[in-house]
Amino acid sequence: MGSTPFLSKEQAFTVRETCGTPVYVYDEGTLEASAAAVLAFPNAFGLTARFAMKALPTAAILRLFDRMGLHMDAGSGYEAERAMRAGIVPDHIQITSQDLPWNLKELVEKGCLFNACSLRQLETYGQLFPETETCVRINPGLGSGHSNRTNVGGPSSSFGIWHQYVSQVLEVARRYGLRVTGMHTHIGSGTDPEVWLHCAQLALDIAARLPEVTRLSLGGGFKPARMEYEDHADLEAIGNRLIPEFKAFAASQGRELRLEIEPGAYLTANAGVMLCSVTDVVDTGDEGFDFIKTDAGMNDIMRPALYGAQHPITLFPASSRDSEHADYLVVGHCCESGDILSPEPGNPEGLKTRTLTRAEAGDILVIGGAGAYCASMAAKNYNSFPESPEVLLTKDGALNLIRRRQSMEHMLENEVLN
Ligand code: LLP
Repeated sequence: MGSTPFLSKEQAFTVRETCGTPVYVYDEGTLEASAAAVLAFPNAFGLTARFAMKALPTAAILRLFDRMGLHMDAGSGYEAERAMRAGIVPDHIQITSQDLPWNLKELVEKGCLFNACSLRQLETYGQLFPETETCVRINPGLGSGHSNRTNVGGPSSSFGIWHQYVSQVLEVARRYGLRVTGMHTHIGSGTDPEVWLHCAQLALDIAARLPEVTRLSLGGGFKPARMEYEDHADLEAIGNRLIPEFKAFAASQGRELRLEIEPGAYLTANAGVMLCSVTDVVDTGDEGFDFIKTDAGMNDIMRPALYGAQHPITLFPASSRDSEHADYLVVGHCCESGDILSPEPGNPEGLKTRTLTRAEAGDILVIGGAGAYCASMAAKNYNSFPESPEVLLTKDGALNLIRRRQSMEHMLENEVLN
């Protein structure tokens, strides 16, 4: 399955007329369908599915997923706060953060769940909340991701407590009377499903050594196919492979573990596009390239510049040119050569042309797969470009603005002139 833009050409021009470009557009129907697929993840003894909100933390999206029954994985104390402000009840928010929230006490007192990501975090939690329950993030010793930058398991990754330190976990827990009832692993984004399943087995082996664990989160990482040639994670197949493992664990350990998963990209990537306008078409001569310049860039969508990530690109011509095609490099508007929307796959320093309808200034480009880690992970305000607005296309065809374009006043509001 690849991502086909859910927007028609007419809708794209309507969005531009009403909101301008660049603009992110999310599709309610696709968001609901992916949430339903996640909530149907096969499991042996119950499921809690969390949305890794770092992928797309806009309040309207959090609320939509909350209505569907997803809980939230917050990647920082600030994300937990943001989720609560969006109306998510605290006990549906679990904090898994590299950086211990400065206000952890307050967040947990409000009801947020905490996932200790290091022995020191566990120690601090024990001091603040002795004689309570908690969850620990374990690095199971193996990782996988769509690039080294998104692999967060194995010896080269600082995420979670190294699997050989389970006895230290138990020792800290004993000292503070903590009951470690949750265990968590997340090994990377865009994970190879076989490596993911292998890690699930390793995680079960580790859970066997944590006698009070009753819920096991296997994290996210289910890869959505942004490009047509990519494989789309088959949640049903992955879940069905896990069921016998959980049943075998229950038989040997006498504990029925509740499964937790926390996808980000799977839920939102293909439910979003970024619309931008062609601002110029230039070339570098016979031996060179044809370039499409756009009014968006790494300040809106950084994945291509950061990872060499591939996003589908479609051109909607403003005049009738549908039968004419050419090969282009598509570049962003920031003043550096790394701001490229058509890098070589997996190599942000390489270039790869795309065959598109012949472009002219004023056309619209649709960058697909832009619902995850785009609006949330932009090189914000670089070159002083404002944050782009976000629009939700509802199932009845309405275009609802869910985040306004940032104004110059907002961009400058924290500056102090003495
Ligand atoms: N759980 C935890 C603890 C995480 O850190 C993440 C993502 C997820 C779940 C969700 O992973 P997903 O299902 O989205 O793969 N910026 C990168 C992805 C980095 C994700 C970081 N953590 C990208 O654009 O591909």
